Amino acid sequence: MQAWLCDNPIGVQALRWTDLPTPTPAPGQVRIAIHAASLNFPDLLTVQNKYQVKPALPFVPGSEFSGVVEALGDGVHHLKLGDRVATIGVSGGFATHACVDAAAVMPLPAEFDLDDAAAFAFTYGTSHHALIDRAGLCAGESVLVLGAAGGVGSAAVQIAKAAGARVIAAASNDEKCAFCRQLGADVTVDTSREPLREALKAATEGKGPDVVYDPVGGDLAEPAFRAIAWRGRYLVVGFAAGTIPALPWNLALLKGASIVGVFWGDFVRREPKVFLQSLGQLFAWHAEGKVKPAIDSRLPMRDLAEAYARMGSRQVLGKLLLVN
Ligand SMILES: NC(=O)c1ccc[n+]([C@@H]2O[C@H](COP(=O)([O-])OP(=O)(O)OC[C@H]3O[C@@H](n4cnc5c(N)ncnc54)[C@H](OP(=O)(O)O)[C@@H]3O)[C@@H](O)[C@H]2O)c1
Repeated sequence: MQAWLCDNPIGVQALRWTDLPTPTPAPGQVRIAIHAASLNFPDLLTVQNKYQVKPALPFVPGSEFSGVVEALGDGVHHLKLGDRVATIGVSGGFATHACVDAAAVMPLPAEFDLDDAAAFAFTYGTSHHALIDRAGLCAGESVLVLGAAGGVGSAAVQIAKAAGARVIAAASNDEKCAFCRQLGADVTVDTSREPLREALKAATEGKGPDVVYDPVGGDLAEPAFRAIAWRGRYLVVGFAAGTIPALPWNLALLKGASIVGVFWGDFVRREPKVFLQSLGQLFAWHAEGKVKPAIDSRLPMRDLAEAYARMGSRQVLGKLLLVN
């Protein structure tokens, strides 16, 4: 097998495309011939030693991938050779093969293609947990999605629409705003040209968005919070801008608003039954055509450095796939 190996987490430049012995699955594991892996922002942070989860060295990055089961370890009963599957973890995906715990592997519904499966559970799972579970989003409410053309942002736009909400999508240029309208956004705000707070007032007849979904942080957080509606819920999802915002607490008091943390990885570990219900609704919405990953492009697995560079320079619309 071949894999991108990280033995020095100082950044993408230190990754090496390496020949490795094809592993035999241990008891309870399966070996997957990887079809595609998607790039998630945490993959960028992990190879820079900046993510909260730090894999033991050396490791193969790549947290989400799809493929076909080609070997079974002892004691695996719910999967068989040839099954089409997807999985999410912290590592292993930027390779041709990976052995993973069978318990962490999802068999795919027949109509679910392997490209969509490599770019689904992480982003849609996060955004569903955030909007539906943590914010209790109701039909008819309005949602501001920051970073709406990115991975979790594009999923949030589709999920909020599927839940019957009105979506205001914020992104940093015209092309991204047009992409968000294709995803279903009702209104877009180009944050490079329009002051966010004023644009939100205009888009909501002065009321402000009921829910703010924020995977970006940085300078947009305070104006977004200042615009939030009475009883608004502000979802703290991530800090792609690189700065963790600090808010004057009186803003929460004045709006009767909540600041709601979202940590999907721990949600999956701590509340597996609720996670499975969430995934069930997402699979149903996918089958109905209400949600579908927007794939920006499919790059050969060997072009991982280019994929990382595009994500790091905010050029990706939706999701990037690395394919074998
Ligand atoms: N809480 C959780 O459980 C959870 C789960 C998954 C991901 N996350 C977090 O969510 C964030 C987004 O992840 P993602 O996979 O959606 O990433 P992504 O596809 O790269 O999207 C991030 C968006 O952030 C915006 N951005 C602003 N400043 C940026 C900068 N300096 N560098 C890069 N992007 C910048 C960009 O939109 P504009 O150009 O339009 O501003 C970009 O589209 C990350 O912080 C990630 O760690 C959190």
